[in-house]
Amino acid sequence: MIFTELEHFVTANFSLLGITCSPSSVSSFTRELTAYTANYPNGGYQVFFWTYDKGLGKCGQREFKPLPNTNDPLNVLEQIEDTQDKAVYVLHNFQQFLTGQKADPLVVARLFNLAHKLKITPQTILLLEEDINLPMFEGLIHILDYGLPSAAVIKAFLKQLFNRFPKGITKPHVGEKLIRSCQGLTIAEINDALRFTLKKYPNLNHDVLVQQVSQFKLAKLKRLGVELSNEPDVKVGGLRTLKTWLARRKKLFASPNKKLPQPKGVMLVGVPGCGKSLIAKNIGSELGVPVMHLDIRSLYHSLLGETEKNLRRVLKTAEAIAPVCLWIDEVEKAFDAGSSTHDGGVSKGVLGTFLNWMQEKKQPVFVVATANKVNSLPPEFLRKGRFDEIFFVDLPNASEREDILTIHLKKFGINLSVEQVQMLIDKTEDFTGAELAYLITEAVTLAHADDRKLRFKDIETVLGEITPQANRDYENIEQIRSWARLMARPAS
Ligand SMILES: Nc1ncnc2c1ncn2[C@@H]1O[C@H](COP(=O)(O)OP(=O)(O)OP(=O)(O)O)[C@@H](O)[C@H]1O
Ligand SMILES: [Mg+2]
Repeated sequence: MIFTELEHFVTANFSLLGITCSPSSVSSFTRELTAYTANYPNGGYQVFFWTYDKGLGKCGQREFKPLPNTNDPLNVLEQIEDTQDKAVYVLHNFQQFLTGQKADPLVVARLFNLAHKLKITPQTILLLEEDINLPMFEGLIHILDYGLPSAAVIKAFLKQLFNRFPKGITKPHVGEKLIRSCQGLTIAEINDALRFTLKKYPNLNHDVLVQQVSQFKLAKLKRLGVELSNEPDVKVGGLRTLKTWLARRKKLFASPNKKLPQPKGVMLVGVPGCGKSLIAKNIGSELGVPVMHLDIRSLYHSLLGETEKNLRRVLKTAEAIAPVCLWIDEVEKAFDAGSSTHDGGVSKGVLGTFLNWMQEKKQPVFVVATANKVNSLPPEFLRKGRFDEIFFVDLPNASEREDILTIHLKKFGINLSVEQVQMLIDKTEDFTGAELAYLITEAVTLAHADDRKLRFKDIETVLGEITPQANRDYENIEQIRSWARLMARPAS
């Protein structure tokens, strides 16, 4: 827990700390800090809070009364320098005066000197920011992350909140599902979602709450460029090796036994239309967890540093929602430094942030990355050990085509004879899974347009109209295949 760690730093006279914290968690962080520091061993510490608009004031009072003339960043540092009390000074959004357009070299120099001076006094300056990037304080500042609330914190918060409900109002049950629906939100956001639900449904119950909070969370995820992927309506045909590989990891994933290896994720490379996205969506139900579909390109922002900040937000949320599957489609486009849609520098930074997180992540987040174009895949991505495995998904062979056709025929309740299925298998060599799916859907559409039941002839008609993409893309496919022979494991 961050507060125990913070206590070690503060009581050991560390003078400058950074806390990364989402904007809506600022007040819950400060409240918790104030309660916690008051009980430090050998006498509590006072907590002061500063913002540019209000100035510096003491926390834990009935009313926040800022000290006069402490708005100015230089003045507040002077004020801190002049005090002798055991105290933690939380400066919120102070970084803007240290770096970027509003940076003031005088403030930087003053903070630098002060941080050295406070090393021997019981005062600590704590910079509270959504994201901290202060290379000039390297070695002097220690950065901790407040993160999003854990399941235990959410449970305690909900129980406390419901206990305060006036008599006569039913206290909803704090069940597993409700806690799960709150994961990924800050305490302030959970509070907002509950207040909103309470207004709409005065007779709260567990299930209504779960539904409403989940909607609130979906909206938040959408703003972050993430969709919670629905379970697909068709199963994946073929790809037996990949399925067996996954089934073996199912028990390990999110196992409470920390001594066992945690599955990190899988990379799926292959021919377009052969089911990579479909597998990614199915992995969630295979592992029994939701699938967060991240569109990295939607995170790109024209302001320097913002893209990485956006990505960190998403990754933090994924860890809070964990166990979860994080699916990134077409990674080669998302991280392609040569792409014209975003500049190479940003891509490099984003890739670095992502790979670093993959290395360090503590929570069970299973990453599924899919790619079509192997040439533009950054080599760092493919380094041994980055993913648990890289699978190559090729055009389906005869038995896989049978599997895929059966799945799609079943979807529309179509029964064909063994001979008819065999004929389709024989005539669809080089078809992708997507083309097989199209064949059946289009035949159903044809019959429906004529207001009649589907005949085998309809399928044959559509079959005559399809030229498999692979026939046109032969060179590309051969290129991926020769790459895969060296770099990946066949998925079937
Ligand atoms: N192995 C399969 N089993 C069942 N259906 C499949 C399979 N492969 C493809 N399909 C069908 O084709 C559709 C498109 O496949 P999908 O989008 O998963 O391919 P992809 O490999 O991700 O393609 P792209 O590289 O173009 O993104 C699926 O939604 C499904 O209906
Ligand atoms: Mg796809």
